[in-house]
Amino acid sequence: MFFKSKAKTEIDYERLPVHIGVIMDGNGRWAKKRGLPRSAGHSAGADTLKKIVTECNQMGIKYITVYAFSTENWKRPKEEVDFLMNLLLGYLRDAERSLAGENVVIRAIGSRKELSEEIQRQIIKTEEFTKNNTGIIMNIALNYGAREELLSAVRHIAGRVQAGEITPEEIDSGMLAGALYTGGQPDPDLIIRTSGEERLSNFMLWQAAYSELWFTKKLWPDFNKNDLYAAIIAYQNRGRRYGGI
Ligand code: IPE
Ligand code: IPE
Ligand code: MG
Repeated sequence: MFFKSKAKTEIDYERLPVHIGVIMDGNGRWAKKRGLPRSAGHSAGADTLKKIVTECNQMGIKYITVYAFSTENWKRPKEEVDFLMNLLLGYLRDAERSLAGENVVIRAIGSRKELSEEIQRQIIKTEEFTKNNTGIIMNIALNYGAREELLSAVRHIAGRVQAGEITPEEIDSGMLAGALYTGGQPDPDLIIRTSGEERLSNFMLWQAAYSELWFTKKLWPDFNKNDLYAAIIAYQNRGRRYGGI
């Protein structure tokens, strides 16, 4: 016998967020609280991620973008960066079997050229392996920063102007959005951030223009299905006006 949690029964499945963004924060503090190395927090966070993606997919959410490594995270000690890169490599490898089996489409967003060749190859492999799946589209933001994303989009468009393909007047918001890593995807409806920090930290600055933001003090490794349901219910109780009345 399965019992649905109370929160889950309150969700209106006709009005689910189409795209959820997640700033998975607090792994280090989670580990520290337990007297463990920060790496233990990252490993626990990776397990949480699997569970949450599986749940979102089962619920019928169409897109999830998860912030895994920012363009600023290179500032961390080499040991931690190396651990995170290895964890991500393992995650992408493992995803071919586990998440792909659940019909998830996996894509990496962010600047690839700074990543190791091994990770770059694995990204291509995992993307190729899952591209024909029909379940949730999971964007893993890996060496992602919204400012870098905007700069590279602007450079791309400027190149088209220089080549005489378009005039500056033809540049519109659709063209710019299309040149972002998320080109062709809807903007996130809901952005969740764990760990009590209430900022975007360079996550989806363009796409988040009208996203509903939801914060929780819970640290990412402790985040569970019920927290996800709570975020979705809070989202469904917001009035989205987009500047109207
Ligand atoms: C989020 O947890 C994971 C990454 C940024 C890679 P943190 O590592 O930022 O954990 P805290 O914020 O230090 O607790
Ligand atoms: C944001 O978390 C980046 C990721 C979750 C990958 P950080 O821990 O890097 O952000 P700040 O430094 O608290 O803003
Ligand atoms: Mg943090």
